[in-house]
Amino acid sequence: LTQLTLALLKPDLTANSLKVSKVLGHIQQNDFNIVAHKKLLWSKNDAEAFYGEHRGKFFFERLCGYMTSGHFHALILEKPNAIPEWRSLIGPTHPPRARINAPDTLRSLYGMTDTRNSFHGSDAVSSAKEEIRFFFPEYDFEKWEQQT
Ligand code: CMP
Repeated sequence: LTQLTLALLKPDLTANSLKVSKVLGHIQQNDFNIVAHKKLLWSKNDAEAFYGEHRGKFFFERLCGYMTSGHFHALILEKPNAIPEWRSLIGPTHPPRARINAPDTLRSLYGMTDTRNSFHGSDAVSSAKEEIRFFFPEYDFEKWEQQT
């Protein structure tokens, strides 16, 4: 079943344009169709709204500070089973652990710490839809659903 998922290339990665082009190539080599792509810069309010479910956790301030530290990329990716496929391509949250357990993943290759982990991927059909709406309010999700 073809799915859409929301991917972020976070500020640490986005700061390095050579890494960004390598990652975009890697995404296409893994047969994801890049349906939409924008580069943005968040205010503190934007970050706190998107990561609202993590409010109160010990890493919340650190996470919002990181995500407002520079521009980042948001992408809509399309592929059969895009949601689990993208999460398996990016690998575990914690890059040093990814380098041991999942060495070929993007977080293993590019991530730094559990906060500065370079990538995001939606974790379920419902969150993918919400996150795509958050970043791409102009994207016609219903039309895509009718076509697939
Ligand atoms: P992401 O998949 O974008 O969603 C939540 C983010 O919180 C996660 O990536 C990490 O950047 C961050 N995060 C999750 N767990 C931790 C943790 N234990 N310590 C610090 N940051 C974390």
